Amino acid sequence: MLILGIETSCDETSASILKIENGNLTLLSNIVASSVDLHAQTGGIIPEEAARQQLLYIIPVIKEAFKKANLSFQEFPVDKIAVTYGPGLIGSLLVGIETARTLSYIFNKELIPVNHLIGHIYANWIGKNVDQIKFPAIALVVSGGHTDLVLLKDHAKFKWLGGTRDDAAGEAFDKIGRLLNLPYPAGPVIEKLAQNGDSSIFTFPKPLIGSKDFDFSFSGLKTAVFRTVKEINRLNDKTVNNICASTQDSISKVLVEKTIKAALKFRAKSLILGGGVSANGKIRNDFAKTLKDGKIQVNMYLPETKLCTDNAAMIAAAAVFFNKAIAWKNIEPNPSLHF
Ligand code: KG4
Ligand code: ZN
Repeated sequence: MLILGIETSCDETSASILKIENGNLTLLSNIVASSVDLHAQTGGIIPEEAARQQLLYIIPVIKEAFKKANLSFQEFPVDKIAVTYGPGLIGSLLVGIETARTLSYIFNKELIPVNHLIGHIYANWIGKNVDQIKFPAIALVVSGGHTDLVLLKDHAKFKWLGGTRDDAAGEAFDKIGRLLNLPYPAGPVIEKLAQNGDSSIFTFPKPLIGSKDFDFSFSGLKTAVFRTVKEINRLNDKTVNNICASTQDSISKVLVEKTIKAALKFRAKSLILGGGVSANGKIRNDFAKTLKDGKIQVNMYLPETKLCTDNAAMIAAAAVFFNKAIAWKNIEPNPSLHF
């Protein structure tokens, strides 16, 4: 079976072809066009601009996904079309949905609406067998818009445990980056600068690290960095590197602590990470180190870094398990969709 995935929820336009054979998910192509350089000029995303770029990219990106998979776009030999229907920016979502709807109608293919957040989790199944990751599993979705802990009892049995009360982890990276005059998106830049920084110079809060629930809160961290930046008259490179290291350290410690707590409580066999922030090397290492300490016996799964940020492969992968088709006439975007 071949699935065409389409993802256009924010500033990435992506199309992918995924093959499912004998229960194995094999990626044939995953094309991602990003308008991030455009948004870097304004320090953040202007939704209308993002939607216009989606319109420019969508057809070439889909055609390229077929070409890369050695398939003919005209013959359209895929079995299903999976598309993100939320959460995201309404204008951006509509571009993917309208394209998927049209292709479904013209080529008479099943259309499967996919929740973007579930897609981030299922990025972990790409390149694996459907049964490889064991349940119960704890998933941490950390992206620009979300920080959520989810219990997976089985493929279609999800329970949301908690999430951020204010800023998401990626949003905190991006907003703190703005305070430090770093380019957008700041997450990867902060990671790089932190490598030359010392995290012991500044001590920033680690909000809700010891709370009983599975909630997160990162706006206090942003305020603490804001105050520190205000107090320092002139920021030099060394100070910026140190602030980056402490910021990253605080975010990583909170994410690791809370996720491990959930894994212990629900006796998870697997621990799954997904979303743009899970591309962060320090966070990946901190998780690995904690598991090595032997406090908990659990298998950890991380998507390869290019599958952490937004992509259509993860949407096709989620559609293997969440495979309820919808008539092309009935699909609608849901910008505030959650778990
Ligand atoms: O999953 P994603 O591509 O889009 C959303 O669904 O939001 O995540 C984008 C977010 C941005 O906030 C970006 O700064 C952050 O992920 N990010 C990172 C890294 N790479 C991307 N944050 C920290 N370290 C990274 N290496
Ligand atoms: Zn995302």
